[in-house]
Formats: sequence, structure tokens, C-alpha cells
Amino acid sequence: MSIQFPNHFLWGGALSANQVEGAYLTDGKGLSTADCTIAGIFSDVVDRNAVDTTAIKDVAIDFYHRYPEDIALFAEMGFSCLRISIAWSRIFPNGDEKQPNEQGLAFYDKVFDEMAKHNIEPLVTLSHYEMPYELVKKYGGWGNRALIEFFTHYAKTVFERYQNKVKYWLTFNEINMSLHEPFTGVGLPRSSTKEQIYQAIHHQLVASSRAVKLCHQMMPKAKMGNMLLGAVAYPLTSKPEDVWAAHQENHGWLYFGDVQARGYYPSYMTRYFKDNNIKLDITQQDREDLKETIDFISFSYYMSCCATADDSLRKKGNILDMVPNPHLKASEWGWQIDPVGIRYLLNLLYERYQKPLFIVENGLGANDNVEADGSINDDYRINYMNDHLVQVGEAIEDGVDVLGYTSWAPIDLVSASNAQISKRYGFIYVDRNDDGSGTLKRTRKKSFYWYQSVIRSNGQTL
Ligand code: BG6
Repeated sequence: MSIQFPNHFLWGGALSANQVEGAYLTDGKGLSTADCTIAGIFSDVVDRNAVDTTAIKDVAIDFYHRYPEDIALFAEMGFSCLRISIAWSRIFPNGDEKQPNEQGLAFYDKVFDEMAKHNIEPLVTLSHYEMPYELVKKYGGWGNRALIEFFTHYAKTVFERYQNKVKYWLTFNEINMSLHEPFTGVGLPRSSTKEQIYQAIHHQLVASSRAVKLCHQMMPKAKMGNMLLGAVAYPLTSKPEDVWAAHQENHGWLYFGDVQARGYYPSYMTRYFKDNNIKLDITQQDREDLKETIDFISFSYYMSCCATADDSLRKKGNILDMVPNPHLKASEWGWQIDPVGIRYLLNLLYERYQKPLFIVENGLGANDNVEADGSINDDYRINYMNDHLVQVGEAIEDGVDVLGYTSWAPIDLVSASNAQISKRYGFIYVDRNDDGSGTLKRTRKKSFYWYQSVIRSNGQTL
């Protein structure tokens, strides 16, 4: 059976500001939390003003200066869409200013103009694992209700500026990761209580819905989505207790989507808050704000996991504290590979929300070898992506409305969890090493030509 992708399916790749741009203090940019989690998103936020240190992301892959070359390479692959994020701290260096930083706004104008030259539709995340560091230092991060206003002001500023250039928006990248230690997603310390964490997340959810409302008011033709880490869990065995454990594990991330897509907290969270003696400050205005729901659901998918009622079987290995699936192989970084999981997830989300879906991250982090002739033969990446895209095609056949697919990542960049470049994702190789050495030269890998033919044939070559 040949796979039919819709005619207007958006094909492309996804990046985040802090993993590619570098130029971390250039043109008035302030420090962001991403600049301060030097060993990756699972490390603590350090005060860069107080410690004398450099970080791999300070330069990253220098997209800030090399974006025309990179966008031209994406265009050569045939991209119709590129997901980027705006670094909030380029626009509001401290987060609480009234007036934006013009140089920061001008940078993204140039990036969007460059995309437009190549007919590439931007998909823009407002906050990809970062916020201005001052908001953590001075206000205590998302634990403080004041952040809702700061974020809303930031969203309004960029909507005003880019309303004629950007049609697709996302609020918070992998918002469900805010629940995970060390809680950098919400800018809280490790020692925070459950109540403090859920309160901070509540503020983020309200801020997200306010941004959606502004988007609808200011740009009626634009579409705004949420962004979930699609951490789908299967029961480890057919024991009813394991089936229930998996159901609850999935609630742990689906609740974000439920609030953002339905406009209110699901009843299982009310029960959870009650059982854990968590009392949230939810105002009447918050409840009103939450009613503004997203237009589409977006998610990342790298792997599935298992859940069990037996706590002794939970062990680290994957991105989260997941139980490995005995039927699956894993990547070099221990991420289990499950192409069928993406079909399952697409069906699950579509049946749950009946809203269009956008796969905004999927790909394989691997060590690449540069051959003596300079070529990079990344068949393992091609196989991973091909197998996943075949399953996306199946989901489309199942009737799921899929808007597009942006791979993570079209070009090598600094990994979020490990702050390594050696965990390479790209179709384009970047000559930079974990110790910061390298020329930053870009080279097309074998997968570059594979993806080019997939896009050219609208999925027929899969
Ligand atoms: C997602 C993030 O979790 O996965 C990206 O949105 C991240 O920022 C990607 O880079 C892959 O994870 P990692 O840790 O391998 O970079």
C-alpha cells in the first residue's frame, strides 16, 4: 500500500534558540535560564554573573550569524516549514521591562524574511526550555504569579511585530517536562514541594491560555498549538495493576494537554490534588482564562516506555524515570526505539481531542563518523526516521489529521539533556566538538539526500 500524505502536508525541521543560536549576550540579549544550566536541562541553574565559566551553548552552532546559509540548506532539502523558537531574553533581557530590545526583534525579522525568501513557513515556539534568568533570580520563576503578566506582555510584543510573518505558533515546549526535577522548566529549586510545583505549572498553563487568547484576538488567521513530550507509557505486563499504572503514568503528561485543549482541569487531577493534599490558588479569572483553548496539538516523540505497579523495577536510562520495554532496542543514549508508538500516540491524541496534530520533533541522536572522503553515512538515522514516517502514514490512513512533521533536528546542535554536540541529530553535520573545537563548517550527510527525496515525493519514497 503506498502512503498518501496530504497535499499541503508541512515538511521540515525543528530547532530551538538556545541550542543553535549562540551569541548568548549579543545585541542586548540578557542571560536566559538555558545559559545557566551549563550541563543541560537536568542540571541546576547557576548564576553566570557570579561564576567565571563558559558553556557550549554560548556559541552553539552560531546560527545567529549563519542562519542564511542554514536556511538555504533547509530549502535545498525542500522544507516547507521550519520550527524555531524565540529567545525571550533577546526581546526582554530581564523579562520585566516595559520596552522590548529592538535589536532582538530585528534579528527574528531577518530570520523570518530569510525563510520567506525560500517559501518556508515558520512555526514559532514562544518558550523552548528557557526564560530570562532575572525572572528566576528576582521573582522566583513561575512560582510567582507576576510571570503570567510578563509572559503575556512578551507574547503580545512578538505577535504585534511578526503578525504578518508567522501563522503557526506554540506556547511552551514540552510543557509536561516542568514536572521533572530539577524543575528548571518553571525556574524552581529542587527542594520545592509538590504544591509549589503544581502552582507554578498552573501559572504557566494560565499564561499559555492568555497567549492563545491574544493570538486569536490579534491574528484571527493564525493558529496556536501547545507542545507536549509524547511520553506514551504501555503496561509492562497484562496484570491489571500494571495496566492501571500505565493509565496513571499517561495522566501525568496528558493532563497538560487536557487543560490546554479542553479548558479546565480533568477530574483525575482533582483527585490527585486531594490525595496529595495539594491546594492550588486558582482564581475565577484563571478559570476564565483557561477556557481559551489551543487550535492544534503538537508533540515530540522519541520513544515510548513502560509502567508497572512494582516500584523496584523503575530505573533510570531514558530521558525520564521510565521502565524499559523488554521488546525494544535502544539508541546509544538508551532511548528506546518504537516506530509503532508514534502511530499509537497519534491515534490516542486524535481520539482524545479531535484537533489537528503536528509532529514537531522526532529523530535520532547518534554519534556520526566522518569518513576519509568527508562523507557521513548515517543509515541508522535514515532507518529510524523512515520507520517512524511509515507509521505516521499509517496514522493518516487511520484518519488522523496530521498537519506536518518537523524532524529534530535538521542540523547538528547542542543536545538539551546532555549539552553535547556529539549526540548528533542533523541531516547536516556541523564541525564542532563537545570541547568547543571545530570550524563550524556544515556538511550534507547521506540522510540529507534521503529526506530531500522524501519531501520531493511527498512521502512516496518511504
Ligand atoms: C526534546 C526537546 O526533549 O528533545 C529538545 O524539545 C531536545 O530541545 C530533544 O533537544 C532531544 O533531546 P536531547 O536531550 O537529546 O537533546
